[in-house]
Amino acid sequence: MKKILTIALCLMLALSFAACGGNTVTENPTDATEEASKLVLTMATNAEFPPYEFYDGEVVVGIDAEVAAVIAEKLGMELEIVDTAFDSIIPAIVAGKYDMGMAGMTVTEERLEEVNFSTSYAKGVQVVIVAADSDIKTVDDLFGDKNYTIGVQTGTTGDLYSTWDIEDEGLGTVSRYNKGADAVEALKVGKVDCVIIDNEPAKAFVADSENLVILDTAYAEEDYAIAVAKDNTELLEKINTALEELMADGTLQSIVDKYISAE
Ligand code: ARG
Repeated sequence: MKKILTIALCLMLALSFAACGGNTVTENPTDATEEASKLVLTMATNAEFPPYEFYDGEVVVGIDAEVAAVIAEKLGMELEIVDTAFDSIIPAIVAGKYDMGMAGMTVTEERLEEVNFSTSYAKGVQVVIVAADSDIKTVDDLFGDKNYTIGVQTGTTGDLYSTWDIEDEGLGTVSRYNKGADAVEALKVGKVDCVIIDNEPAKAFVADSENLVILDTAYAEEDYAIAVAKDNTELLEKINTALEELMADGTLQSIVDKYISAE
């Protein structure tokens, strides 16, 4: 009898998940009884990117985590954050493994061929981190004849742009790391000459180290948005409605202000 009940329950759950285009990943079984009636909204991220997503102990916190929590609440869903490699987020969204990808992710033409993006909720800037005594003084120096080695996080726009603009042109070498922080460690020990990464994590990484500086000139400016599978336009519309409310009523700004102090 018990078995039949379990099977029936599984079937019901599977059906309700399928109906909403979600999936059955549940990593928090303790909440299962309390939240049994709520559908799960899964968010794939890469929690190596302060202040957007990073660990506070065992918990993923940050601007994206908090904005996603408010979106889930508005959708009447339970948020589940899955931490994964940055370059596996889009393939996982395309494969329908998670509902959305939120990771300080830049909208690019190439990514738009694979996924849809929500309304943009933040701006990012690709900046260059160097050692304080580096002879790289401006972004233009990277295009000179010195053949610098550039540290990046694999699959990020910092990786893509420097690969296209510099490595493919024979002007330098790109060295790819799983985490932005690892690229910064490589810079500290002189394995790379600079790191190209988004401005907010750059500030966080440089704050920990006296000998690093961020160049005044930016490499590129971009928009962050949430990635959703192309066939899940229903979720995309719901996310956009929630985001627009969050932006209009000041919730988004108050979350940002918690993590980024105005200059
Ligand atoms: N904005 C950059 C991009 O979209 C970097 C994002 C990295 N995010 C992360 N959570 N590690 O490529």
